[in-house]
Amino acid sequence: MNQTITALAMSISTTLAADFRPIPQRLGLIGAIFRELGRSARATLGRQPRRERAALDFVRAEAVEGDAESVLCALDRFAREQRFMMNLGDDKGRVLDALVAQLPLNAHVLELGTYCGYSAVRMARLLRGGGQVVSIEANRRHARIAQAICQFAGVEDQVRILVGESGTIIPTLTGPFDLVLMDHNKDEYLVDLWRIEDKGLLEPGSKIVADNVGPLFDAREYLKYVRTNPYNPYRSHYVESRLEYYEAHPDGMEISVRLSAGQGDSPSLGTG
Ligand SMILES: C[S@@+](CC[C@H](N)C(=O)[O-])C[C@H]1O[C@@H](n2cnc3c(N)ncnc32)[C@H](O)[C@@H]1O
Repeated sequence: MNQTITALAMSISTTLAADFRPIPQRLGLIGAIFRELGRSARATLGRQPRRERAALDFVRAEAVEGDAESVLCALDRFAREQRFMMNLGDDKGRVLDALVAQLPLNAHVLELGTYCGYSAVRMARLLRGGGQVVSIEANRRHARIAQAICQFAGVEDQVRILVGESGTIIPTLTGPFDLVLMDHNKDEYLVDLWRIEDKGLLEPGSKIVADNVGPLFDAREYLKYVRTNPYNPYRSHYVESRLEYYEAHPDGMEISVRLSAGQGDSPSLGTG
């Protein structure tokens, strides 16, 4: 079972476990998962390329080389019409656009979870001056596709993809970063934020955007930390949105702004 189906399957178990969710919404998500399983099975039987490779082929066929907007449109169309992709998507993408557009000249952005480069292209196209996106991706195959997509979109000079686990790479980085997008393994958001804090990669005003912290995912520990922890204060708020390409399902992003340089060690790393 591939990662996407696993993510959807995890969503379904969370959905089923949450008693308060209305039954039609639960059935809608179950239907979406079965639809996706059917599409994957048909693609495998038809010996079609994997979804990420198919997405790259679609971009090359449908988008205009060097035109990042057309690349994003093609990826959105592919994910809606052909195979689900775990891109940020256009709905939440517009929230991110507004934040990136406010960044200063030469801004530095850190992304955890590149996948096929959708959000990296989205951010890079709005950076001004010598702005850079550093994007960490554990899966080599995803990183290769992302590199090719960034190249096709004409943003390869603004995006540096680092292949490896976030937990290994974060301690090697030099900051500060003006914006951090967390969009990798949801269970690692909090510990990676602690790593980022411990390495001093944030400064007052740095923004942390955490995707998929809506009702389909269990982000309680992360949200509690950015909203209430007294050691490293943030001003934090939730932006309601929709699950990428399944607009009937709610999802959201937490946007946290670093308020001060921090008054002590993170309560996690090193201190147990
Ligand atoms: C939801 S996708 C990222 C989507 C991407 N931000 C976008 O909008 O186009 C998550 C990606 O994170 C990667 N990933 C998961 N855990 C990771 C980790 N600990 N370190 C680096 N990458 C990770 C997965 O391989 C996957 O490609």
